[in-house]
Amino acid sequence: MNRIFSGIQPTGNLHLGNYLGAIRNWVKLQKDYECIFCIVDLHAITLPQDPVELRKATREVTAAYIACGIDPDACTIFNQSTVSAHAELAWVLGTMTPLGWLNRMTQFKDKAGKNRENAGLGLYAYPVLMAADILAYKATHVPVGEDQKQHLELARDIAGAFNSRYGIEFFPQPEPQIFGAATRVMSLRDGTKKMSKSEESDNSRINLTDTPDLIAQKIKRAKTDPLPLPATVEELATRPEADNLLGIYAALTDKSLEAVVQEFAGAQYSVFKGALSDVAVAVLSPITAEMNRMMADPASIDAVLRRGAERAGDMAATHLRQVYDIVGFLRP
Ligand code: TRP
Repeated sequence: MNRIFSGIQPTGNLHLGNYLGAIRNWVKLQKDYECIFCIVDLHAITLPQDPVELRKATREVTAAYIACGIDPDACTIFNQSTVSAHAELAWVLGTMTPLGWLNRMTQFKDKAGKNRENAGLGLYAYPVLMAADILAYKATHVPVGEDQKQHLELARDIAGAFNSRYGIEFFPQPEPQIFGAATRVMSLRDGTKKMSKSEESDNSRINLTDTPDLIAQKIKRAKTDPLPLPATVEELATRPEADNLLGIYAALTDKSLEAVVQEFAGAQYSVFKGALSDVAVAVLSPITAEMNRMMADPASIDAVLRRGAERAGDMAATHLRQVYDIVGFLRP
């Protein structure tokens, strides 16, 4: 039995990087796997969140999942805080996670910044909660980007720690789900940095809610280099902005990078950017329209989440009960 679990934090705007790097690939998985897609609000509060914005972003991520093609009837879509087993299992798993393992996590170091004494315990324990997310469903495959690979490795180690402490093969080792075609979308202002919702300049990313005019404007302003577009893929190694924009074009048109490089070899950026705007708008505007339609009817979004929570809750509760029995908690 193969089961997928993945999640996105309801913080800030969803952007082209989330779509091309994650959600679009999840859409393809739903035919072949049992899929659980979570909106990880418990993870979101490891950094301060405005309560009103958090609720709105939770609905927005849900709407985006569906607008991008995830079928809420075939998949389980829910927000993490509605299934208490995540927090409960995280506690149990935390008792068998050595501090040494957590101290190696590079994301904590990045997010905690210089003032580590002031970082919250939740931020530090973040990867343990992520392990609980996955293991609560005994998920076998986890689609994650490069930045979450270390956390997934840790989840595998934690699964092993539980199994070996109790001498039982209870948790499967979750495998990373790698996509050959997954696109690592970089910032429009700096081709060496990932497109990110936490980047200060909104011009650095294309949000799933941007209007066609805004998309065109951001692409027009995107950073480039002074040369015409290259004739070979090899030249892209030293031209991060060209690499990023051509890569986005290839992903949006489902063409190979080689084919796209050939198509625009020697072209001026202005010509290429016009073509890129057109395909970006063509792909994104139906998604944006569907998101807007759903956001105008929040009750329908909440209904999807309630249904998902019920399904996810049943599955997770069964596994949590088994864990509690294994651990030796009395059920009087
Ligand atoms: N940490 C992931 C991110 O920020 C989100 C996440 C939380 C997740 N729990 C997960 C991803 C479980 C995969 C599986 O991108």
